[in-house]
Amino acid sequence: MVDGLLPYAPAVTGVVLLAVLLIGYAAGRATGRWTALVAGIVVIVAVGVVLTAVGGPPTEDPAAELTALYTITLPLLIAYVAGWLVVKGGWLRRFLVIAIGALLLVAFPYAAAGQATADALLRCDRGDAPLTTPVPRRPRRDSVVHVLTALHSPIVLAPMAGGSTTPELATAVSEAGGFGFLAGGYLDAATLGAAVSAVRARTARPFGVNLFLPGERRDAGVAAYRERLVAAGLEPGEPVWDDDGYPDKLALLLADPVPLVSFTFGCPDPEAVSRLHAVGTQVLATVTTPQEARQAVGAGVDGLVVQGMEAGAHRGVFDNDPADPAGGQQYGLLALLRLVAATTDLPLVATGGIVDGAGVAAVLAAGAVAAQLGTAFLACPEAGTKPAHRAALADPDAPATAITRAFTGRPARGIRNSFLDDHTAAAPAATHRCTT
Ligand SMILES: Cc1cc2nc3c(=O)[nH]c(=O)nc-3n(C[C@H](O)[C@H](O)[C@H](O)COP(=O)(O)O)c2cc1C
Repeated sequence: MVDGLLPYAPAVTGVVLLAVLLIGYAAGRATGRWTALVAGIVVIVAVGVVLTAVGGPPTEDPAAELTALYTITLPLLIAYVAGWLVVKGGWLRRFLVIAIGALLLVAFPYAAAGQATADALLRCDRGDAPLTTPVPRRPRRDSVVHVLTALHSPIVLAPMAGGSTTPELATAVSEAGGFGFLAGGYLDAATLGAAVSAVRARTARPFGVNLFLPGERRDAGVAAYRERLVAAGLEPGEPVWDDDGYPDKLALLLADPVPLVSFTFGCPDPEAVSRLHAVGTQVLATVTTPQEARQAVGAGVDGLVVQGMEAGAHRGVFDNDPADPAGGQQYGLLALLRLVAATTDLPLVATGGIVDGAGVAAVLAAGAVAAQLGTAFLACPEAGTKPAHRAALADPDAPATAITRAFTGRPARGIRNSFLDDHTAAAPAATHRCTT
């Protein structure tokens, strides 16, 4: 609900400042004493200190704490002192004080105080009380600054469809100061809605939801591939093509907004992006090439998830190019980050092959605001990872990974096994859900 109020944050801040100015005026008029001025200042500073101490993601950075304190208290102090001085001065001084006060009342809400209030509103919605203004890591565009650069740890849980990203895992990541994600892929709208509620019930921190964009239907080669699998003694399920319930899930997220929605397997249409913006949701698109990045920027998204070829599971390619075994040009993550950063100044979330602090540091140095980790989280107790998958990931002698269409028709990086080795070359560039 409060997300919808964000556009009014400057006005709310203005009203608060006006109220404090009037209180200052009343205090000056009622007492006419300097002690009233000092007492007001002490109260405002004390309130600022308390709000800074109890609110926000924990930070050990004294500069960030001071910035937060300054952001909260300075406009209030100016308003209070201006109100108080009106009583004391002659007409010229009163006029000057009122003019300066009015100017500040208009300017501040649209500057630091407005942003701090927007931050506070966004997070206080779910019972949290942070009022700190974190030091932005790379504040490239205001609209996403307060979601991604406000993270205590610049780590995003990759949405992982198929049951890995449970509400418990998303909650644990958000609670730890990172950014939790739910994977909407393969779920129907009701199940996704229940997962969103489950996260909300567990944490007041922001989190996101990822949706698959429905692609063009492609059946060529599917029947022959299925026959091949049957001839090999396997029992493949019936090939499935559907839109993954996309319209219903989008409708759900418009009716019950979350702070961030990311899209995968295509470019979101500009209308969907603006409808999400209208309900206060910020939008990311997953891209694998600079061309896709340009397309997504053109659709009006707020940031990009830049996916390198190292990424586990499906590649987020917009077009599953049948002529390319990987579905499209492969870029290493660092190279892709720099290429995309050269085409846009939107915030970039880096993903693919990042498993530790050094990897996170590398992508931050290459221009990302945060790192999105998938495989690294699969070993967590909260993850819904299947035992066989856990065992394979923990095995120091596990085989290498390879990109294949053998499982779903879409290019994906998987741990090599005999199925992958035997059928990759024959797998068609077909639909996403052609296996069960
Ligand atoms: C099991 C699994 C499922 C995934 N499902 C999704 C998904 O539903 N949506 C999405 O955007 N990315 C998905 N991804 C890709 C991740 O978002 C991310 O790009 C990838 O995990 C990064 O590489 P890493 O696994 O080396 O960290 C998935 C990754 C894994 C490992």
